[in-house]
Amino acid sequence: MQAKREKIVILTGAGISAESGLGTFRDEGGLWAQHAIEDVATPEGFARNPRLVHDFYNARRIQAAEAKANKAHQALAQLQEHFPGEVVIVTQNVDSLHEKGGARNVIHMHGVLEGALCATCDHRWPAPDEMEPETTCPHSSAPSARPDIVWFGEIPYAMEEIEAHLSEASLFVAIGTSAQVYPAAGFVEAARSFGAETLEINLEPSDLANRFHSHRFGPATETVPEWVAALLT
Ligand code: OAD
Repeated sequence: MQAKREKIVILTGAGISAESGLGTFRDEGGLWAQHAIEDVATPEGFARNPRLVHDFYNARRIQAAEAKANKAHQALAQLQEHFPGEVVIVTQNVDSLHEKGGARNVIHMHGVLEGALCATCDHRWPAPDEMEPETTCPHSSAPSARPDIVWFGEIPYAMEEIEAHLSEASLFVAIGTSAQVYPAAGFVEAARSFGAETLEINLEPSDLANRFHSHRFGPATETVPEWVAALLT
């Protein structure tokens, strides 16, 4: 009988992209201090003022396109390549910096800035650099293109797949997330209930720090490569 391969499930948040120049949401001066969530990150806000919402995501799309992967993204890609078991990366981030750093099969549970979604027929296509209320869907021709981003009040993507991975995880690691947004914030408890060890890597203890078995605190570009190096040697 073959031994079960170890599986590491990694959840990342805005903190892993902070040193690439992309702002986090809840740190001082973060995105949610500058914009009202209900205006730019809810279906109701989009219905009220689609231009405002498109402007917000157009600016973030341009910024993310210019950003480069940092040492933390690259270290996770190295881990995926060299770890003898399986490494699953689940991200709440809508940038593509994990992919730019070389990671594969990243699960984007909150969607992607590079994607457009038709609010009429659910068709998806690569987002143009700039979207506006008049942008039409190439499938339905309806002028109802929206960013392919999961907003508050909507169900994140790939939840069944993520839960299946968590149920098989030997180690669950949360990196650069404040653990304030569910369902992602509930993954540590789910992983523990399935018997996984849990590790938090963050600038500082998150609200759920005491639910993790172990911790590494500091900037992701230092802590993540150090952890990966320790794991691979
Ligand atoms: P937050 O902005 O809530 O939290 C970022 C976390 O990263 C904080 O705990 C910081 O301490 C940490 N951090 C900051 N700089 C760091 C660094 N250089 N190295 C390591 N850690 C660092 O972002 P998220 O937890 O990702 O959802 O937010 C979760 C979700 O809330 C987002 O996906 C977004 C937001 O509303 C939607 O828009 C649907």
